[in-house]
Amino acid sequence: MAHKSTGVQSDWSASQYLKFEDERTRPARDLLSRVIFQNPKNIVDLGCGPGNSTAILEERYPTAQIVGIDSSPDMIKKAKSTLPKREFFVQGLESYSPSESVDLFFSNAVFHWLKGGERFEIIKKLIGTQQPGGNFAFQIPYNLSEPSHVLMRETAVNGPWASTLSDVDRDEFQSPQEIYDQLKPICSEVHIFQTDYFHPLADHKSVMEWVKGSGLRPYLDPLTPEDQESFMEIYLGSLEKAYPKSVDRKVLLRYPRLFVVAVKG
Ligand SMILES: C[S@@+](CC[C@H](N)C(=O)[O-])C[C@H]1O[C@@H](n2cnc3c(N)ncnc32)[C@H](O)[C@@H]1O
Repeated sequence: MAHKSTGVQSDWSASQYLKFEDERTRPARDLLSRVIFQNPKNIVDLGCGPGNSTAILEERYPTAQIVGIDSSPDMIKKAKSTLPKREFFVQGLESYSPSESVDLFFSNAVFHWLKGGERFEIIKKLIGTQQPGGNFAFQIPYNLSEPSHVLMRETAVNGPWASTLSDVDRDEFQSPQEIYDQLKPICSEVHIFQTDYFHPLADHKSVMEWVKGSGLRPYLDPLTPEDQESFMEIYLGSLEKAYPKSVDRKVLLRYPRLFVVAVKG
């Protein structure tokens, strides 16, 4: 199923993204804990963002050669300032090919941003460059059916901005079965698992702040500042109806994520 919504127009904002750095980096740690390759000599962090995922790679593999690539200049600028000893490049995944064989491709919260038809072309092309035993590990949010995301789509189609946002579209991610069937012919092992995180956030506005750094961007970017304000006001009102307040007045944001660790055959 394809959900209406992607014409991302402006660059990502590292500072908005990092407002929830701890929560956003936790799945990267969980993914890394399941990587099978014990001592990778070279690693590429695909869609490294501000370097938060690269930092945990560095923590676990301090002597490995680690390179981060990302299509966002703002993210790469931030990554370079955070980890000045590592190499980072502004580079889209669509046109990326490594100059040498890579032991571990790692990608936290990136592949869902690519077009549905391109994701596995890219993943399989990159696995094709690895030696047998090389690992390809990625994690993606699996949350298009969560109220946070359903409500942004509803706000988009029901407002005066409906025609401006009609092209915004993000393809639902492939199912575990489809992922397995794509990867197994070229991999000796394909491990797939899902975790639902429950993040206690300060209030409903914090839920909106969270998605402003990621999923809400394609909806807000094409709008005028006035329409952005109205969109956010309506969206916030819907969030308040959908998510109850917890005993401590916080809002529990359920966040399903899907993890894949594949080993090149
Ligand atoms: C949600 S952030 C993830 C950042 C980091 N990996 C982390 O663990 O938090 C998604 C990143 O993917 C990058 N990205 C999106 N589409 C991309 C593409 N086609 N090629 C390269 N990077 C892309 C964005 O610029 C952004 O920095």
